[in-house]
Amino acid sequence: MNQPLRDRVAIVTGASSGIGKGIAEAFARAGARTLLVARSANKLEALAKTLTREGATAFAAPCDVTREEEVGLLFKRGTDTWGRVDIVVNNAGVASGTATEDVTLAHWNDVLAINLTSVFLMSREAVRTMKAQSPQGGRIINMGSVSAKTPRPDSIAYTATKHAIQGMTHQLTMDGRNHGIVASVIHPGATLSSFTAQRGRTSAGPGATADDYVMAADDVARVALLMATLPPEVNLYEATILPNTMRSFIGRG
Ligand SMILES: NC(=O)c1ccc[n+]([C@@H]2O[C@H](COP(=O)([O-])OP(=O)(O)OC[C@H]3O[C@@H](n4cnc5c(N)ncnc54)[C@H](OP(=O)(O)O)[C@@H]3O)[C@@H](O)[C@H]2O)c1
Repeated sequence: MNQPLRDRVAIVTGASSGIGKGIAEAFARAGARTLLVARSANKLEALAKTLTREGATAFAAPCDVTREEEVGLLFKRGTDTWGRVDIVVNNAGVASGTATEDVTLAHWNDVLAINLTSVFLMSREAVRTMKAQSPQGGRIINMGSVSAKTPRPDSIAYTATKHAIQGMTHQLTMDGRNHGIVASVIHPGATLSSFTAQRGRTSAGPGATADDYVMAADDVARVALLMATLPPEVNLYEATILPNTMRSFIGRG
């Protein structure tokens, strides 16, 4: 079996569903010792069981990534178990679709906590860990969105967080450079997940019209795997992956 991530230690957030589940599966199958992170412990346990049965090394690591203390304990689990953390995928997130005038401060704060503050908490812990370990370094892969470039209507909080993730990735790339820490961002378009299920899509592939194609989580996972398997000196800094027919992002045609 081709295992380009053999014995690397990976933490994948949002691994209970959608894109994060696809990335966690791909990383574990590529040989990474993978901590599966989300709040739904039962879903993580089921995924860990499936991957373990296949011969992969994956453990459920229930954690609310908006909570500073839980994030600290998550990294401690990685370093206590394997001595290091090589790859962190900051994928956990929520969608938000509300007209600007109806967005309450509580809603704004919730979306920022899950989509942005969690990425700060996870990245800060990743930098601390990756700087301290020997050999130094690692990779941080952040989940952006095409909304970081072309917003969906009525999504002010979501759009703000995805623009901020672009900036945070830039900062991490610069600040991590002298310590072997490489940061990248993926901007997916429509991908099968609980996001698309809420809009009535429960299978990947073509929809009612050409515009309605929905990618599989595995399509995005292949990009994450490519980012994670490049030589440490090389950074696929930013990748936008979307259905080619997604006219809401690349119009006309
Ligand atoms: N699907 C798309 O079309 C699309 C397009 C562009 C960008 N994205 C981005 O892709 C990422 C993944 O979303 P998805 O589409 O795969 O949606 P999803 O199926 O709803 O997955 C979201 C994941 O985040 C986890 N999560 C949410 N809050 C959390 C918290 N506080 N602590 C820990 N885990 C938490 C959820 O698990 P629990 O509920 O179990 O905690 C779940 O595993 C998001 O950042 C999203 O913005 C998605």
